[in-house]
Amino acid sequence: MDLYDVMRTTFACRDWTDEPVSHETVHRILDNARFAPNGGNRQGWHVIVLDDKETRRRLIPLIEPTTSIYAAQTMAGESPWNSITPSSVDPAEAAAAGHSFPGLDKMVDAPVVLVITVDLSLVASFDKELDRVGVISGASIYPFVWNILLSARNEGLGGVLTTYLAGQEPEVQKVLGIPSHHAVAAMVPLGVPVKQLTKLRRAEVSEFTTIDSFDGPTFESPASGE
Ligand SMILES: Cc1cc2nc3c(=O)[nH]c(=O)nc-3n(C[C@H](O)[C@H](O)[C@H](O)COP(=O)(O)O)c2cc1C
Repeated sequence: MDLYDVMRTTFACRDWTDEPVSHETVHRILDNARFAPNGGNRQGWHVIVLDDKETRRRLIPLIEPTTSIYAAQTMAGESPWNSITPSSVDPAEAAAAGHSFPGLDKMVDAPVVLVITVDLSLVASFDKELDRVGVISGASIYPFVWNILLSARNEGLGGVLTTYLAGQEPEVQKVLGIPSHHAVAAMVPLGVPVKQLTKLRRAEVSEFTTIDSFDGPTFESPASGE
């Protein structure tokens, strides 16, 4: 497939057929994903292939408080879990409300479930002294996670990068035996998609690109005659 077609159509797949996916395929996916860029080439990633169904199910109650807060904040018209605007939603109340998150069972019952962690003792987090939430550490793990999804696509599979497991990270670390200096970066379910989407909704380049400064002139498509 043409690389641009892959980039434009690798969607967040949350619905899979029952067709099993072999360890051999999962190994091939990881064997190709490992060439992802990462800070200082320290490769702090660790992947847990979650075969055990019981263990997978133990993750559901660890995800629900996070998704409940997400749902309550969304219903309140907020951009959920953002780190800038204080929320009007009481997190304890929202978590206890147990807003159901559609499809969570399906996620943990997917043919393959991977949990990906990153060793923060290896990652250079150049923004760690700034007075805002860190984003740089993620850059040493998410290219790898995205490579997993691209490799999966190449195998005829689909999946989704999820992060809601991180909301209860200490509990997740206990359940899966993850050391405390490893951040829980993602849970990625994979399988054969029930259907392949071909059109993703994204803003146009001109809506997010400017010249010379953030408020500079819009970077228009040369084809538009600018
Ligand atoms: C950093 C990140 C975190 C995400 N977290 C979740 C998540 O916790 N749960 C989930 O169902 N999807 C999650 N997603 C998937 C997004 O919802 C999805 O990529 C986005 O809606 C675009 O979907 P599309 O490619 O099908 O258009 C996440 C994606 C990214 C990149």
